[in-house]
Amino acid sequence: MRVAVVIPAAGSGTRLGESVPKAFVSLGDRTILEVCVAGVLAAHIADTVVVVVPTELIDTAQQLVPEAIVVAGGAHRSDSVRAGLAAAGAADIVLVHDAARPLTPPGVFDRVVAAVRAGHPAVVPGLPVADTLKQIDPHPVDGAERVVATVDRDLLRAVQTPQGFTREALQRAHADDSGLATDDAGLAERCGIPVYIVAGDPLALKITTPWDLRIARDVVAEGAS
Ligand code: C5P
Repeated sequence: MRVAVVIPAAGSGTRLGESVPKAFVSLGDRTILEVCVAGVLAAHIADTVVVVVPTELIDTAQQLVPEAIVVAGGAHRSDSVRAGLAAAGAADIVLVHDAARPLTPPGVFDRVVAAVRAGHPAVVPGLPVADTLKQIDPHPVDGAERVVATVDRDLLRAVQTPQGFTREALQRAHADDSGLATDDAGLAERCGIPVYIVAGDPLALKITTPWDLRIARDVVAEGAS
């Protein structure tokens, strides 16, 4: 079965506060994008790698990651995923992997691909939640948020990427997109496709804030990835 990995990297990354889009920020002596693609290749699971970037950075990205097919993204993450999927060729299994998780170890890719090969149409890596989680009333009173419930954290998982799908399941999931889903599995759930969890990894952390970038840079500097 042929495997394609689609890497959405077309976000602006405004929460990171850097002058270039997140995927083009440095991580050690490379960019986040280069580290991410190298991590995918090191897992030896991909026949095709598609990277989705802002239109004006296509040439730059192609030079940074010549092993990948590079295409232009869209306004929402899901638009970018669809652009990548369209360029992924005749893959049977498609993994969607955020460029923002460049330190994801090979074992996570292996577990996701193995579970899709074993017959699950949609598979996500997930970790137990350490914090106690409170649900709040969506309407603050005098600027203060009010707790309405304590959620049973034993029943929750913090999910990561790569998220793996049969090509058919991912296409079906994206056929009905409201633009609001924050991950691809969320779209699959909405159209009744069962989604399964495999073990994630703390190293698959998502770089969103300056603090996350600091942690990722420390990990790279220590050679722990
Ligand atoms: O915004 P967020 O951090 O959730 O984005 C997750 C991933 O999706 C990032 O790698 C980002 O570059 C990508 N993205 C994209 N196209 C967009 C928005 C986000 O490829 N329009």
